[in-house]
Amino acid sequence: MTGSDFLDTARVFYDTVARDYTEHFGDWLVSRPFDRAMLAGFAELVGAGAAGPVADVGCGDGRLTAYLDGLGLSVFGLDLSSAMVALARNSYPHLRFDEGSMTALDLADGSLGGLLASYSIIHVPRERLPGVFAEFHRVLAPGGHLMLSFQVGDTSLRVDRPFGHEVALDFRRQRPEWIVEALDRAGFVVRARLLREPDEGVEQVPQAYVVARKPAVSVPGPPSPAERR
Ligand SMILES: C[S@@+](CC[C@H](N)C(=O)[O-])C[C@H]1O[C@@H](n2cnc3c(N)ncnc32)[C@H](O)[C@@H]1O
Repeated sequence: MTGSDFLDTARVFYDTVARDYTEHFGDWLVSRPFDRAMLAGFAELVGAGAAGPVADVGCGDGRLTAYLDGLGLSVFGLDLSSAMVALARNSYPHLRFDEGSMTALDLADGSLGGLLASYSIIHVPRERLPGVFAEFHRVLAPGGHLMLSFQVGDTSLRVDRPFGHEVALDFRRQRPEWIVEALDRAGFVVRARLLREPDEGVEQVPQAYVVARKPAVSVPGPPSPAERR
């Protein structure tokens, strides 16, 4: 897969399964106290000094956007899939939802107080993650916080013919240490990580959260090998 094929594949997948996916996973947060605790901690960190709104990037049906709104944040959602955005707008008409990709955000430099990417970086090939994290760093205001969540592992889970639809997509598991290293290289300071065990009968692998901050004064990344010589 080259160029932006991975975006087209993810868009078609979620446009196709949007309604079934939402009905199936609609209430996953209800039975997940650790996930709610991470969202509450993120809301507190961001709310304390918000220098702009929070973007829920890869917001899907907008459930977490609405949850953060309920925690008092000024938040909007953004998703690659127009069907997901339509569902979100329909369910939460008081909130803003935009179509877009995390690989090229249509947002001004330093304009966000916070950024949540909940199970959405899992559809980006690993070699493209540094570019996505650079984009997250660009749009966050100095001192702004980022929270990522993802399934933990070394390999991808290929989801084929979900709910009987003729589509397939890779759900790319990640190691928290890979993500921490990539965030560090992008100029973030990692503040917290949570590794929780899979919910029996529902999840197959551990789940991770990583919270990072863009420093108030940006620090340059590590020197390149050429600069080190
Ligand atoms: C597994 S769902 C997670 C939805 C929601 N964040 C949640 O945690 O319930 C992944 C979402 O990320 C979106 N997505 C995938 N690639 C994206 C990209 N490059 N930019 C923005 N959204 C993307 C998909 O359309 C989908 O709605």
